Amino acid sequence: MSSPRPRPGILEITPYVGGKAGGAGSRPIAKLSSNESPLGPSPKAIAAYRELAGELHRYPDGHCALLRQAIGRRHNLDPAAIVCGAGSDELIGLLVRAYAGPGDEVLYSRHGFLMYPLAALAAGAHPLAAPERSLTADVDALLAHVTSRTRLVFLANPNNPTGSYLPAAELQRLRAGLPADVILVIDAAYAEYANAPDYDSGLELARATSNTVTMRTFSKLHGLAALRLGWMSAAPAIVDVMNRVRGPFNVSLPAQAAGLAALEDVDHAERARSHNATWLPWLSEQLAGLGLRVHPSLGNFVLVEFAAVPGRDAHAANAHLEAMGIVPRQMDAYGLPHCLRISIGLAEENRRVAEALGDFVAGRGAA
Ligand SMILES: Cc1ncc(COP(=O)(O)O)c(C=O)c1O
Repeated sequence: MSSPRPRPGILEITPYVGGKAGGAGSRPIAKLSSNESPLGPSPKAIAAYRELAGELHRYPDGHCALLRQAIGRRHNLDPAAIVCGAGSDELIGLLVRAYAGPGDEVLYSRHGFLMYPLAALAAGAHPLAAPERSLTADVDALLAHVTSRTRLVFLANPNNPTGSYLPAAELQRLRAGLPADVILVIDAAYAEYANAPDYDSGLELARATSNTVTMRTFSKLHGLAALRLGWMSAAPAIVDVMNRVRGPFNVSLPAQAAGLAALEDVDHAERARSHNATWLPWLSEQLAGLGLRVHPSLGNFVLVEFAAVPGRDAHAANAHLEAMGIVPRQMDAYGLPHCLRISIGLAEENRRVAEALGDFVAGRGAA
């Protein structure tokens, strides 16, 4: 008997597994598995969200006009060059579906964000990973993997989960080396945290070229992950395509209102940025001081490498942390089974991580 069959590629998808929320310990859970903001959203964003409780029967503005204007003012962009989405995940999926299909290739770097290959498979396209150098995207390797079938190249800058980044000059070299009909997507989900002087979120490339997309999210610095809100900017032809393929009301009313309030609460955003600027180096130094390899990160998380020794490895470290009520992210799905990714948390959570891993390294079991 025949049965319905999805398009080729769909059954190759291993569904994305988000960060775990809880461990087995008795202490309060420190959820450090999803790179969320430990400070939460701006109180003004929460108020804007609550205010809409009586309006839930209304459709939202399908054009996100006020939000796009505010984003445009903040980043010196034409609001017409901006498309909002239900998280940047939605925009990634829509871009791939609009520009790639069966027989096409979507290129990304080996330890790039997992949604890129998943979105490619969902569209029936072939995800192709270019090797990295020291867990950092390698422009030469990316360019060497371009074929006549390449439609999009995805680069998270800084990258999740490695924390590494490509400086402005390398981004330009990548764009210049790609064929004109290949879209370069610079996913700058962690841009607000990136404080290296040569960091570039791709805004200027998106403004100046016809084939570059830059993408942002409200899920990280602005602490609005639950509401699902992201945006991208690109040349008019790409924006036009996105506006054709997206749902007419893809961003909810509360998400638009809270996003607008979050954008305007510059003080809260600055507190979140400065918290990270204090605790990211602190945690990195503490863990390095324990003899663990900590990869330099420009995001709100650290990638920590463990020995490939049973009982001392990343799986054992994960079990130890979970027993202490700390939930990191295991990295097997990223091809980094010897690593854990740990988001920067509240001060007390960061101290607990350092203490728990200190015990782990010293061979002291979970209490
Ligand atoms: C690099 C990168 N891009 C996109 C996203 C998705 O963000 P959103 O919550 O806006 O879908 C994430 C979330 O972890 C991310 O790390």
